[in-house]
Amino acid sequence: MIKKSIKSFLKSIRDLGKQPPKRSYELITQINQTNMEYVTLGRTGLRVSVMGLGGGGYSKIGQSTGKSQAESTYLIRTALDFGINLFDTAEDYNTEQIIGKAIKEIKREDVVLSTKKKVLNQDRLITGKELVKEVEKSLRKLQTDHVDIYNFHGVTINQYDYVLTELAPVLFKMRDAGKIRFIGITEAFVKEPSHQMLQRAVEDDCWDTIMIGFNILNQSAQKLVLPQATTKNIGVLSMFAVRRALSSATNLKKAIIKLQQMGYAELETLNVEKPLDFLFDEGGSKNITDAAYRFCRHQLGVDVVLFGTGNIEHLAANVTSLLQPPLSDKDLLKLKELFADVDNFTGHEKV
Ligand SMILES: NC(=O)c1ccc[n+]([C@@H]2O[C@H](COP(=O)([O-])OP(=O)(O)OC[C@H]3O[C@@H](n4cnc5c(N)ncnc54)[C@H](OP(=O)(O)O)[C@@H]3O)[C@@H](O)[C@H]2O)c1
Repeated sequence: MIKKSIKSFLKSIRDLGKQPPKRSYELITQINQTNMEYVTLGRTGLRVSVMGLGGGGYSKIGQSTGKSQAESTYLIRTALDFGINLFDTAEDYNTEQIIGKAIKEIKREDVVLSTKKKVLNQDRLITGKELVKEVEKSLRKLQTDHVDIYNFHGVTINQYDYVLTELAPVLFKMRDAGKIRFIGITEAFVKEPSHQMLQRAVEDDCWDTIMIGFNILNQSAQKLVLPQATTKNIGVLSMFAVRRALSSATNLKKAIIKLQQMGYAELETLNVEKPLDFLFDEGGSKNITDAAYRFCRHQLGVDVVLFGTGNIEHLAANVTSLLQPPLSDKDLLKLKELFADVDNFTGHEKV
């Protein structure tokens, strides 16, 4: 049913021509048939779609890939029409204002907004006063009086103590004042592909949510962070499901060659021309990107899979993938065996 609705949706977009239209209620009726699934985001109690649209990554909802603001706005509204209610952005991405504008007409309680601030300003850590100003700035850009989840952005293990003792109390006060509902922390996955900071963070009780790097190629979060997060009922948003390595067959091939060069014995036997083709057997995944999103979506301990795109067709394809059933037990076991030891590769690497 969903495939049919997306097919006709894409045709409608093509019929409307290149110019992104104003919200088309005819389209919305078709898209509403997607039957989005919702989960409770850990201890926050928020009901969120099982997927969230990210305003960062390589695409920045199209702002890094040559799209106009109108096109990015249309992408966000289409995501809303698909039933996505969680949007992640950051001061650093420069997409807060676009998201704020795009959701203006939506009832505030129908949208969950997540934003964040990096704690390093050039070569020094930000102060509490600066953090307060940054939260206020985000509120203005998002055109709202409160953020649902405010995150410390890309925190490393070296920064963690400062964040916990000096900056988190500032956010607790802002939460008491009603400007923030929940407090999250996100990792710097490229710097810490084996989750040093998050392994530490899940021991503390103050984080309502975490954002973690997780994908087929690096499943290390499964052992190192997710069980602890589940025990503490911390809401988990995953990122890096696709990134660069899993965005095409060509990139996958290059990534596997790189992993083989890194000496992972289990991967040596893979034919690099079709390394994970067992995933595409009868009844399996459509392509590597489809498999990658489905893999993350059904991982125990992951509540929401964030994805980034500036491409409306990718948005529709990803919604479809993320609403598909899990990969087969056989495929999951094989992926687990193949990538069991990988904890120093993220999928972001230029290969
Ligand atoms: N430390 C942090 O806090 C942190 C770090 C990273 C990300 N994040 C958050 O997580 C979100 C997701 O980021 P991510 O980079 O991890 O996202 P991702 O979904 O793993 O990767 C996005 C990349 O894949 C491409 N892509 C998406 N759908 C595709 C499809 N169907 N077919 C082929 N290519 C496709 C996108 O390009 P197109 O535009 O061409 O689709 C983009 O280059 C970010 O936007 C951000 O909100 C947070």
